[in-house]
Amino acid sequence: MRKNDLAIIENFLENKDEALDIKEEPFEKLMFFYNSALSQLETQLNIIKNEFQIMYNYDLIDHINSRIKEPKSIIKKMEKKKCEKTYLNLIEKINDVAGIRVVCTLKDDIFLIKDLIKQLPDIHILREKDYVTNPKKSGYSSYHIIVEIPVKLTQKTIYVKCEIQIRTLAMDFWSSFEHKVKYKNKDVDKKISKELVAYAKVVNKFDNRMISIKK
Ligand code: GTP
Ligand code: MG
Repeated sequence: MRKNDLAIIENFLENKDEALDIKEEPFEKLMFFYNSALSQLETQLNIIKNEFQIMYNYDLIDHINSRIKEPKSIIKKMEKKKCEKTYLNLIEKINDVAGIRVVCTLKDDIFLIKDLIKQLPDIHILREKDYVTNPKKSGYSSYHIIVEIPVKLTQKTIYVKCEIQIRTLAMDFWSSFEHKVKYKNKDVDKKISKELVAYAKVVNKFDNRMISIKK
């Protein structure tokens, strides 16, 4: 366990192993931390988006979406991961309670965006997954970064985890569709699965071609 996980817990829980209850006050307080981290990160990313538009006349980022995971989905994920439903496990094991998605036009820009994120002051990088260079077996492609964002409370600063997904518009279209038909329903027809993988390759070809055309 990292020091920062403890710091979050100590802010609002007497017993870190307390059972998670999404209807209780500690849960609400915890979500306040995630919400604060998310709005701060979103503001930062919007500054980068606007800076590129206004200062460099370049649309680096098409759009940014953010969401806090639904309490029900948090519970489901913990059950899937077979971890005991405690606050500590929620903080330690679930990386995408706060999630932000940065969508750009060109595949090359994914790498520029991730470098700019990594250079943000005060941000801690916990983990990176490059499914752009190495897509998942499902065909899924995106660049993932798990970060910790400092939330400056009046008494102290706490670090809160967020998952950032960076992808192109084409990847976003594919993964939104695939998520609906497959990711949440593993029993999907084999033929359809194969077709989805094939279309992920088409998306990749399209993204590569867009880079060539731009050049
Ligand atoms: P989760 O425990 O499911 O979050 O996966 P993980 O901890 O192994 O992390 P990973 O980086 O693989 O996935 C994180 C997130 O990426 C998921 O919650 C999804 O939003 C997205 N994702 C990962 N794989 C797929 C996929 O095959 N299809 C789609 N549509 N989305 C995916
Ligand atoms: Mg997720």
